[in-house]
Amino acid sequence: MSEAKPFVLILYYSRSGATADMARQLAAGVESIPGIEARLRTVPSVSPTCEAVDPEIPAEGAVYADLNDLRHCSALALGSPTRFGNMAAPLKFFLDTTSSLWMNGALIDKPACAFTSTSSLHGGQESTLLTMLVPLLHHGMVYAGIPYSETELLSTQHGGTPYGASHVAGTRSDRPVDEHERALCQAQGRRLAKLALALHKMRQETSSS
Ligand SMILES: Cc1cc2nc3c(=O)[nH]c(=O)nc-3n(C[C@H](O)[C@H](O)[C@H](O)COP(=O)(O)O)c2cc1C
Repeated sequence: MSEAKPFVLILYYSRSGATADMARQLAAGVESIPGIEARLRTVPSVSPTCEAVDPEIPAEGAVYADLNDLRHCSALALGSPTRFGNMAAPLKFFLDTTSSLWMNGALIDKPACAFTSTSSLHGGQESTLLTMLVPLLHHGMVYAGIPYSETELLSTQHGGTPYGASHVAGTRSDRPVDEHERALCQAQGRRLAKLALALHKMRQETSSS
């Protein structure tokens, strides 16, 4: 049974804040569309020290996601810093706990997108975004990139790809999300929100017929 008001789950991991900043920009895009809201959630770090335990509630920022956030969302925006050209382990670890949702087809026909931050311009944004899409396809989600009608895709000198929003943080990880990158995050949020509402309606009609 889904919750009354449709929401886009913006699920991300961020260690130094860049991906978290992008997540808030996507949320602003989502919330500019009437009838749907954004729900920001993160995941705990993982540690090679098996005894390490994070507090149940993070000291700051979004709270940790649980499977119900995914079960009840109308869309998913998945955000991760690039780690060696791939998503960060804490996010992958969380996705690896979603087998029960896969068994029940809980995410089938829900739209999804991905976003990432790297330190360098050619440090693997595309490979990260494309590999983040793979588990979402296994779940039966409908992947949405960013169309070239968003003109910042052509004018950006840093982040921004048709596979999803991206950001270049620089070698010190301190370069803010710039105007083009921010516009593309928000555009991706708006697009996902519109697709979420359309597919939410479609799923409701299908289940009642
Ligand atoms: C283990 C590790 C691997 C990384 N691999 C890459 C990489 O492949 N390419 C890149 O450009 N940046 C890489 N980075 C840098 C981060 O992607 C970058 O600092 C990002 O902006 C961090 O996002 P956050 O502020 O949300 O944590 C790596 C960082 C770490 C800690």
